[in-house]
Amino acid sequence: MSLTRIRLQVRNTTHQDEHLCVEQLLANSSISPNTQQGALALARQLVHQCRQHHNKGSLDAFLQEFGLSNNEGIALMCLAEALLRVPDDATADKLIAEKIHAGDWSSHRGHSNSLFVNASVWGLMLTGQILPLEAAITDDPQGWLNKLINRLGEPIVRNAVLQAMRLLGNQYVMGSTIEKVINDKVVFDKTLPNNCFSFDMLGEGARTEADAQRYFDAYANAIKCIGQNNNASDVYSANGISIKLSALYPRYEYSQQAGVMSVLLSRIRELAIAAKRHNIGLSIDAEEARRLDLSLDIFEALARDPELSQWQGLGFVLQAYQKRAPWVARWLIQLAEETHRCLMVRLVKGAYWDAEIKYAQEQGMTDYPVFTRKVNTDLCYQYCAQILLSSPQAIYPQFATHNAHTLAVLLAISGEAKFEFQRLHGMGELLYQTLYQQLSLQQKKCPEKNHKFSIPPVRVYAPIGQHRELLPYLVRRLLENGANSSFIHRFLDEQVPIDTLVQEIEPQVLSVTPHRHSHISAPPKLYFQAGEQRKNSLGVDLNNPLSVDSLLGAAASALEKKYAGNSIIIGSACCAPQPFDSDPLSTERTQVTEERLTISSPANRNHIVGYCTHASANDIEQAFISAAAAQPEWDALGGEQRAMLLDKLADALEQDKPTLTALITSEAGRTIRDAISEIREAIDFCRYYAEQARQHFSRPIKLPGPTGEQNLLSLHGRGVFLCISPWNFPLAIFTGQITAALAAGN
Ligand code: FAD
Ligand code: 2OP
Repeated sequence: MSLTRIRLQVRNTTHQDEHLCVEQLLANSSISPNTQQGALALARQLVHQCRQHHNKGSLDAFLQEFGLSNNEGIALMCLAEALLRVPDDATADKLIAEKIHAGDWSSHRGHSNSLFVNASVWGLMLTGQILPLEAAITDDPQGWLNKLINRLGEPIVRNAVLQAMRLLGNQYVMGSTIEKVINDKVVFDKTLPNNCFSFDMLGEGARTEADAQRYFDAYANAIKCIGQNNNASDVYSANGISIKLSALYPRYEYSQQAGVMSVLLSRIRELAIAAKRHNIGLSIDAEEARRLDLSLDIFEALARDPELSQWQGLGFVLQAYQKRAPWVARWLIQLAEETHRCLMVRLVKGAYWDAEIKYAQEQGMTDYPVFTRKVNTDLCYQYCAQILLSSPQAIYPQFATHNAHTLAVLLAISGEAKFEFQRLHGMGELLYQTLYQQLSLQQKKCPEKNHKFSIPPVRVYAPIGQHRELLPYLVRRLLENGANSSFIHRFLDEQVPIDTLVQEIEPQVLSVTPHRHSHISAPPKLYFQAGEQRKNSLGVDLNNPLSVDSLLGAAASALEKKYAGNSIIIGSACCAPQPFDSDPLSTERTQVTEERLTISSPANRNHIVGYCTHASANDIEQAFISAAAAQPEWDALGGEQRAMLLDKLADALEQDKPTLTALITSEAGRTIRDAISEIREAIDFCRYYAEQARQHFSRPIKLPGPTGEQNLLSLHGRGVFLCISPWNFPLAIFTGQITAALAAGN
């Protein structure tokens, strides 16, 4: 299939139905039962050995240093986490002192979930066990802290919190500057074969051009430093760099495609040329799903760039939790073949799952771009691995995982293919060390099969930077370590039987039909899940060129005609604008021509959107009289009937989205994104008030009858309401006020 056709498939499958998608994966993935059983056995053995050899690590020393109980240590880690957004130790110390004195922790009283949300993660790291925090701590954090201060003294507690903050950062960050890390030979773990690194300069989602410049400079300096210290024989064994495109440009989004393809592309190209000069690998990290389409444009441009030819270090990160992942894998192979190069492809499951779910709900997408069941992601990961392994000339696979079962499956299906494993700094050390001991043992036992057991190298993804850039990265690691569904969360927990932790994937996938999570409804059904009876308004995927083209095409057609705005009284238009011959172009945005106003676009005053006529005093009088006359009948319709009409209004607005987008952008001068959220808000208002009408105005409410009498309360409209539309939300707020009044029988 051509690159363009595959690309179309990538776009079309972005929000594919999950059940269908999983059925296709089940039909296509082909791992023999023997291979599956072998992988299960190895994975279970690995978990068993890791549990035996687990020592509590450096965090344990923290408890001893300050004479803290496990519970106290965990609680202090949680407090430290809440304080993390500080640039340096001196500021941190001041902040801790201030917080201790201000007693801010009390505001968390009764909301322990927010302050202590990661307690289990810290429990596992500090003690190797999940320990529930004592109620004395979670119910009254300030009281508990005061007692601790009385016992240890304030300077020691301050020091302990500071130390906890440092531990938090150091757990996942290798060092503060690339120079220090490269010069510190201690970082090179000699217990693993061919251990090497992909360094990541912390910092992402640049908000300003200054941010982007700073991050660019950090990457450029890191490449120089890695390159100058590179004495590897080839690009595969050299240390490399991982780059987040969102760090290099503040508007890394489809609506700014032109800027992305000039400024952002030229920045990443410059970095790639530097990486090529030093013959080190450069991988483009995978970020939010909405950035994927643009990242493919950039990656293709780099792959086709003549200045980057003859270099095998260009790398892409593929997230298997995205439904379109298999198509992206095929696209990468096709691209590599067309450009005669071998691409590095890091296969991950994906680190933004929670954010993807929330974003798709908020944006009213038709479905999620990611799977809703973890086992579906596991299945897709296996399948993508098979696709990548099938083209060794085109792809050098880099399998990044901390899951013993995934790792064992990869070893089982890879045969003699060349690939590497990857892990994150601060995670997975024990697992990979155990695996390598195991593989070396096998090598010794059957030397004749040595070629089969050639041990793949492991590369460590090593973040570098300051505390102030750490937060988004840390949050992803905490979510990953803390999620119940995460392998790593339950890996060392003796309470979880190994056979439960490590199970074959397919039977788990098949055990639920349809193959999507029954508690995570698709975004259009979000409110049904919350117990309401209303649909969520549909959004438009502004990062998918297909949906953008369709919206913009329809909006442009809608603007071919001129619109007339006027009062409607008793169903008839009054004061309709007179037909006109030619329109005088005005320098004023609105110009009164007799009774008719010419409405032009604030962005282009030559563009006449339409005409409107204001109501006369008489029209207003008539409107009040007719509304008052109609109100009793409208009120008598009852909540259910009124709700049906409001629902119809919502559907009509949904249908008219392109026209309304055209009008809001051209008349009110709002952006397309704002126009869509405004239309959606108007639709949600209609459905929300319809729901209210059904609930409160359909039937009388029964009140208590203390002496046995029947007391019924029925709600009714009050009369005529006057609603005024604000200029900045011409559709949504106006519709909201009107529909609220209508729903209540006014
Ligand atoms: P597992 O516990 O087997 O899998 C956990 C993963 O399953 C979650 O992270 C999520 O992806 C998925 N999942 C969890 N719940 C659900 C659910 N309900 N429905 C569907 N799926 C679910 N991530 C990126 O996004 N971009 C990167 O560039 C990137 N680079 C990385 C580099 C390295 C070297 C490593 C090791 C990881 C990288 N990651 C990246 C992070 C990676 O995505 C996570 O570490 C990974 O998902 C954890 O997978 P696992 O196999 O270790 O663990
Ligand atoms: C992340 O930043 C590791 O790239 C991955 O979460």
